[in-house]
Amino acid sequence: MANRGGFSSKLGFIMAAAGSAVGLGNIWKFPFEVGAGGGAAFLLMYLAFCFILCFPVMVTEIAIGRKTQLNPVGAFKALGYKRWSIIGKMGILSGVLILSFYNVVAGWAFGYFIEMVMGNFEVGANFGEYITNVFKIGGYAIVFMATTAYIVSKGISAGIERASKILMPTLFFIIIGLVLYSFTLPNAFKGVQFYLVPDFSEINLEVVFNALGQAFFSLSLGMGALITYGSYVGKKDNIVTSAAFITLADVGIAFLAGLMMFPFVAYLTDGTMEGAAQGPGLIFAVLPGVFESLGPVLGVIVGSTFFLLLSFAALTSTVSLLEVPVTYVVDEHQVKRSRAVWTVAMIVFLVGLPSLMGNGAVEFFTSFVTYPSGETKTFMDLVENLSSDTFLPLGGFMISIFAAYIWKKENLHEEISSGYDGFKTSFVRKFLDVTISYLCPIILGIIFILTVSQKFFGVSLIDKLFY
Ligand code: TRP
Repeated sequence: MANRGGFSSKLGFIMAAAGSAVGLGNIWKFPFEVGAGGGAAFLLMYLAFCFILCFPVMVTEIAIGRKTQLNPVGAFKALGYKRWSIIGKMGILSGVLILSFYNVVAGWAFGYFIEMVMGNFEVGANFGEYITNVFKIGGYAIVFMATTAYIVSKGISAGIERASKILMPTLFFIIIGLVLYSFTLPNAFKGVQFYLVPDFSEINLEVVFNALGQAFFSLSLGMGALITYGSYVGKKDNIVTSAAFITLADVGIAFLAGLMMFPFVAYLTDGTMEGAAQGPGLIFAVLPGVFESLGPVLGVIVGSTFFLLLSFAALTSTVSLLEVPVTYVVDEHQVKRSRAVWTVAMIVFLVGLPSLMGNGAVEFFTSFVTYPSGETKTFMDLVENLSSDTFLPLGGFMISIFAAYIWKKENLHEEISSGYDGFKTSFVRKFLDVTISYLCPIILGIIFILTVSQKFFGVSLIDKLFY
């Protein structure tokens, strides 16, 4: 077991898990999903999903990981339910798919750091062109994947855990600064209104589907990443308070990222909010113009620091995404860690190439699929819809059923009690019982069936049932 490593302290685990959770999902994906999902209506759904469905799944994943001290596939086998290790296998597939496009976007962010250092604020207006330069962004993607692989190959507790203790709070303060700045700009109020005042007519199945996927994605749930991380947690640590901290930190940062973005969008569009729904390019198109407005010196400093820290936040997430398949290969197939790391990283990079090329450079991957609804999507959109919006909630669904009915609640309670005296008589226990046994399986199951049949097969079950 020596090569599995471990966290140097409880804080080490929390920081690493929070580092996994906080990343591009909060600062890149969340704002554009809110923008595309009609603003506050999306935000509300997202918050409800995070606290009611995802938090209990997080506690369960960490508990399974700590109990078994294994990777997501081995964990289910060790508990005596070999067939349920399919959850882990699906998780490993999702991890590979997510990392394949995540690494591409991380490369964009890192490239933006360099553009900002050079004072090239025009890159925002030319974002469409920037992402078609496949050699340049391909180079950044290689650098990013190699850095991730290097860190994972050196074991888990080393330098990044320490670095994230300083860098994550710094990112937090920069975002706060930008939020305050955004409030001083003309039309800021219109952006805040878009973000915080819900228009319920905006809610439809698509929005629910995306909000749920976003909640799982942002919290790194549903694929066993936290089973893997939980396997490094000590028996004296309180899983519930750790999970609560991770959830609050993650949701808090996403919330602030939105609070900073929409006033900026309002400012740059004279309050029309046009372009808020533009999708994955949102922050990359908007932020350079904002940094430019700070003047040449301050703009370069704030802009480059922002994208450097964003790249770092992405790095702690790519590390956790790569960690899952690697730990699986090391534990279950007795491959040497360094060999496993570099092989998996290479495969993931290759799987990501169509996502890298499919944003205008290569037409085939750019207009890759047309859904029954008539929407044409890129290869990257398809991978994202399948992995984060479909597989992760499905994983969460299966994990909750497994914990409540197969492994049994009593065993889950037992594990959570270690490090949390009085858990069994607490309100938290009742809340977890209700969510894990009923709310998660029912709500996740219904949303899964409705959306998959509509989105991928063009069958609207709602219409069939009610009209
Ligand atoms: N949560 C990360 C983010 O928001 C992405 C991520 C890291 C992730 N590890 C994961 C998503 C595991 C799902 C599963 O940027």
